[in-house]
Formats: sequence, structure tokens, C-alpha cells
Amino acid sequence: MATIKEVARRARVSVGTVSNVLSGTIPVSKRLKTRVRDAIEQLDYHPNFVARSLKIKRTKTIGIVISDIGNPFFSQLLRGAEDAAWQEKYMLITFNTDERPERESQVLDALRDRRVDGILLAAAAGNHKHLRAFKESGIPIVCVDREITGLGLDCVVVDNFSAARECVHHLATLGHRRIGLLNGDLNLPVARDRYFGYRQGLEDFRLAFEESITCCCQSFQLEDGYRAALRMMSRAPRPTAMFTGNAMLALGLLRALKELGLRCPEDVGVVMFDDPRFTDVLRPSLTAVAQPSHELGRRGFELLLRRIANPNLKRTRVVLPTQLNIRESSGLPRVAGSG
Ligand code: RIB
Repeated sequence: MATIKEVARRARVSVGTVSNVLSGTIPVSKRLKTRVRDAIEQLDYHPNFVARSLKIKRTKTIGIVISDIGNPFFSQLLRGAEDAAWQEKYMLITFNTDERPERESQVLDALRDRRVDGILLAAAAGNHKHLRAFKESGIPIVCVDREITGLGLDCVVVDNFSAARECVHHLATLGHRRIGLLNGDLNLPVARDRYFGYRQGLEDFRLAFEESITCCCQSFQLEDGYRAALRMMSRAPRPTAMFTGNAMLALGLLRALKELGLRCPEDVGVVMFDDPRFTDVLRPSLTAVAQPSHELGRRGFELLLRRIANPNLKRTRVVLPTQLNIRESSGLPRVAGSG
């Protein structure tokens, strides 16, 4: 493989001039630039980025740590970060934590060992003492989707509390008086905020909070939602509507309803957080809170780039808007007293 010295020799310039043509940071005359570019093409030269990163003390690589790339929310978030990184000629290294803090700690160490320039983190549940130690390593971290307080980390999030509250308002306005909840682990900030938004929505309409029709599952996974919904919907009296903390729990709920011979929305209205691409083609089409997941990733990368360039900037917190897309699954207005 050709070296930069061979390119310089072929173009009859210094190695520094070749570097300047490659980086574009220092102007080079058109004449020399042409000679260098011709030599690069003739020798099929490709810069040795590992050597270059040692020189510039930047790897132009960032880590992105998410819960589960199989979840459409995270795949869209990842895509937003990658599209922004590509514009800036950065590479991404992706890790999944499956909501396990010990896994999160391991992948953060692996990313530090590879000297990434920064990390985008959708933090797992539980304590984050490993993050405090990691922050001291000097590698910038920006939180996306899940805010971690107390560490002064930049973040890009949505207002989970208000969006969940709006879902309950929508169902209550349709006449539902017993609205249940399927949610994720309350150790996760997003699940906690959605839980309290749900509670506030009930209070706003003077609806009773009933422990028996709420379940905060161990995870945001479909299977957890399915098992919890089977238990909840097998007990009388059933709730006439359900709010779920994400789309996977909603799919688990719909599987349980189907198994029990219950119809959505005729028997149980459904509103969910997250609005993956497929929800409007299902029957019934699903009422859902659309998160700007691609934008969360893109804006997270932009914040990280700023933080890499200016480590001493004051903390930035960005809150992006969500949108409640009302479709068939929440149902029609109900006759007063029907549930
Ligand atoms: O579906 C996974 C959930 O966890 C999403 O709602 C997203 O907010 C993430 O935090």
C-alpha cells in the first residue's frame, strides 16, 4: 500500500504539502494540488487514519450506546446520529445494553480503550456511579432520549411527562373512566416521567388511580407487555382503555387482547408512546405519541461535536416536541357510564 512519502516523491513536493492537500486546512496552490492529486490517483494512495489519529489526537470516531437496535425508536435515533456524523466525516461504533447497567459500564470502558472522541448515551436503568468515574476520563458524553441528572451532562430529550398526560386526556375526553397503564421499569427516567404524566392526566379528569390496572414491567419489551396484559385483561372489571409506555408493550397488549378474544378499540382502546412507521397501516391503526427519534440522534451528535471542541461550555439541555397522532385504536366517544 502506497505511503505519503511515496506520494510526495511522485508529486515532487514535501510530505507536509501532501498533508495540507489532504486536510484542506492550509491553502496549497492549484498547480501543486493537481500534482498531489495525480500522484494519489496513480499510486492508489489511501491515508493511514490510525497514524493520522495519533498525530492529531483525534480518532474522528464516536460511540453510541443504546438499549436495543431492534427497537424502531433506537434504530431511527441511530440513523439520525449516523447521518449527522457522516456529514462531519465521523465514524460510529454502536453498542446495545439491553437496559443492563453492568453491560453499559463494560461498553463504556471498551469505547474509552479505543479512544473515541465522544459518546452518545441512552442510559440504562439503575445507578450511574460508573458514569461519574467515566466522566473524569475526559471523554465527553451527551445523553440522548434519557436524561441523567447530577453529572452536568448535555442532553437531548422530549417532555415525556406532558406527552403521557396528553394521552390520558385524549382517552378521558372520549369518555373512558378506567384507563390502565402498561409501562417500563420506573428506574428509567423516561418510564418514570410517563408514569407521573399518566397519574397527572387521571387527576386532571378526577379519575381514580387503580393499582390493579397498572403495571410497570421489568422492561419495555413486547413479551413483558403481553404477560402483564394477559393477567390484567383476565381480571374483571377490565379497563376500557390502556396507555402503554412504548410501542413494544402495545404490541404485547394487542397480542393478549387477540388471544382473549377482545377487540381494539371496541372492547379496549389503546394509546401508546412511540410511533414506528408501521402503526398507521395496522388495523386498527394505532394512536401514538410520535417522538422525533431521528432528530434526537442528529441533535445529540451536534451537541457532542460542540462539546468535543469546547469542553468547558456550560451544560445544554434540548427538549424536542412530540406529537400525538390520533388514529383508530383509541376508539370513538363512549356513552357516559359505559366504562
Ligand atoms: O421503546 C423504547 C423506549 O425507550 C422509547 O420510548 C424511548 O423513549 C426509549 O427511552
